[in-house]
Amino acid sequence: MSTRTLLLILIISSLVACKTVNPPTNNPDKKLSWEHPFTGTFRTKAGNPPTFNLLSVANRKPRAEAINTLPDTPVPIDLKDIEASVINGRTCLKFPLGKEEQIYGFGLNFKTVAQRGRIFRLHVDHYGSEDNGRTHAPVPFFVSSKGYGVLVNAARYIDVSVGSAVRKDSKNPPVARDRNTDRAWDAQPYSDNIEMVIPEAGVEIILFTGKNLMEVVQRFNLYCGGGIIPPKWGLGFWQRTPTLYNEEDIRKEAAGFEQNKFPLDVVGLEPGWHSKSYPCSFEWDPGRFPEPASFISEMTSKGIHLNLWMNPYHNPGGTLDKLLKGYTGSHTVWCGTVADYTIPEARKIMQDHLVKNQLDIGASGFKIDEVDGFDSWLWPDGAVFPSGRDGEQMRQTYGLQMMTLMDEIFRKKNQRTYGLSRAANAGSVSYPYAIYNDNYSHQDFITALVNASFSGILWEPEVRASGSSEEWVRRMQTVCFSPMAMINAWADGTKPWSFPDVYKACQDVAFLRMQLLPYLYSTFAQYYFEGKPPFRAMQLTEGFPASGEIKDQYMVGDNLLVAPLFKGDTGRKVILPPGKWFDFYTGKLAGEGTFTITSGLDKIPLFVRDGGMIPMISPIRQTSEWTNDKPLIVKVYGKADGHFALYNDDGKTFNFEKGEYSVQLLELKQGKGTVKHSGDAGFGYSGITWKFMTQ
Ligand code: GAL
Repeated sequence: MSTRTLLLILIISSLVACKTVNPPTNNPDKKLSWEHPFTGTFRTKAGNPPTFNLLSVANRKPRAEAINTLPDTPVPIDLKDIEASVINGRTCLKFPLGKEEQIYGFGLNFKTVAQRGRIFRLHVDHYGSEDNGRTHAPVPFFVSSKGYGVLVNAARYIDVSVGSAVRKDSKNPPVARDRNTDRAWDAQPYSDNIEMVIPEAGVEIILFTGKNLMEVVQRFNLYCGGGIIPPKWGLGFWQRTPTLYNEEDIRKEAAGFEQNKFPLDVVGLEPGWHSKSYPCSFEWDPGRFPEPASFISEMTSKGIHLNLWMNPYHNPGGTLDKLLKGYTGSHTVWCGTVADYTIPEARKIMQDHLVKNQLDIGASGFKIDEVDGFDSWLWPDGAVFPSGRDGEQMRQTYGLQMMTLMDEIFRKKNQRTYGLSRAANAGSVSYPYAIYNDNYSHQDFITALVNASFSGILWEPEVRASGSSEEWVRRMQTVCFSPMAMINAWADGTKPWSFPDVYKACQDVAFLRMQLLPYLYSTFAQYYFEGKPPFRAMQLTEGFPASGEIKDQYMVGDNLLVAPLFKGDTGRKVILPPGKWFDFYTGKLAGEGTFTITSGLDKIPLFVRDGGMIPMISPIRQTSEWTNDKPLIVKVYGKADGHFALYNDDGKTFNFEKGEYSVQLLELKQGKGTVKHSGDAGFGYSGITWKFMTQ
């Protein structure tokens, strides 16, 4: 054969090879068969889902009884329009999207609430200033303004396009335009579907319906185990101290709060309580904390609870590092070993250590830091763990794993805890942790608080440093209307009185939070019993339009609307749900619909619905002073009839889960208030009086 002929054969055969396309490894099967386990709840499996998923890590049973008290609302779309195909080991999902439909959720976003048009890769990460799915809680759950929501239960990075992909088989395809001549040409033409890609050969999908968006969210929350009721002390004021503070510094810090007459229930100890940190030893530093047991009991006697910072990366050669040998992953983080807490033996080692060295001597909880990762220091996706889980599965669930690990030990002691975590995912609703981060945009913090309500998480918009008194007071005002009222002074030691000219306003709002504790606690009870988030997006309020981008105001419970002001604001627009709304402070009619307010530095604008009741106690500095024999005033706004379930329990154990609680039904009819008891276990308030705020 001549060289020319050989060359020709080679060229022809390579051309043929280029044309050969590998066939898909699985044939796409788009049909799904749905089961209907509870009212308004529909479940299916596409392909062959792995047993390790978000809800298997969260390890809670759906609260069937509570879900079934909600009406069996029909699915507002044709289930046949939800399609799934498994191709080359990945599951592709398609959901229909109507013309006017809006989509909320997909976890902790910081810039937007309405998510139509967005593209995400849901990936646990420290938020990097862009809503692209890399966030502390990238929950694969969305809520549609049509009245349904979908959870995609996979512990994987999930690609999502929310109305950006255009299909050839679209029922409403966009019309092609000519960019040369048509100015209305759009690079993102109209799309009528949501698409998701899960890098696994199957996935469980759970769909929830509801007569409104709140009911959809309630079902999702209850399916994942229901919300939490923090211990009472958790709702008091928190101060985190500088990293290297010792026992004496903390004593002085607590005394400073007493002298300056500022509420304080919790002091957060930062890395310096460990003898070594980054990676952590989980042993008390003998220099800074020579007598941890007696120090904690001394603080407890002063009504102060201690919360301990940690990241779960073990110091080489330390006790836990040695005990956990054989249970750690292939990579280290800051030279610390990373245990695989999906293995029961590893969990037990960590739990036993925490119980013996921290819980048994009185620590009240933990701040679970750095479980979100930055790619630069966390394990890579290719990491392997002894259980066979890979780096991606661990990254999506490590925060959740730590929460469940902690929950088991606190439950064993019948002691409620409340803490912080820098990562969460679907299923964390029944774990008592607020999520936080190192970013510091006040506006973004409020948008995160709003978004958290669609995803079964609580967001903590902590106060750190401030450039001015004005910014300080505005941040203090909003943090007092959040799941956790906390200053995180780990880096700079700021105190509530660091800006003396606005100290009075800071004190006022902190004491107002304390006065509102019965309202707040009852609102958390709704979270546990009914799945209603305590801090809510406006769309979760009855009668409020289901579509819209409202990211700077929110509801606390059913009755109270919070309209924060930011640095530079002297007023703002407020969008009210239907009906009359009243100024919280004066009881005067504030308005209806949309209106503009002006406000000084001294107050955060708050509004109450017509017939809204706000139960309040006298100002107290610590939650230990909150007892049911003290006077309780029910503030009443407007003239409409109303009702409110005033909840109370022992404030510290899980006995409420066995029925040990009291509910007093506050009824308002034609301007007269009555109190009826239901489920009274002796925690009801004895001295209830009514205050009609609107003349
Ligand atoms: C950060 C955390 C801060 C603080 C700090 C201590 O990662 O977000 O809140 O705890 O660690 O080193």
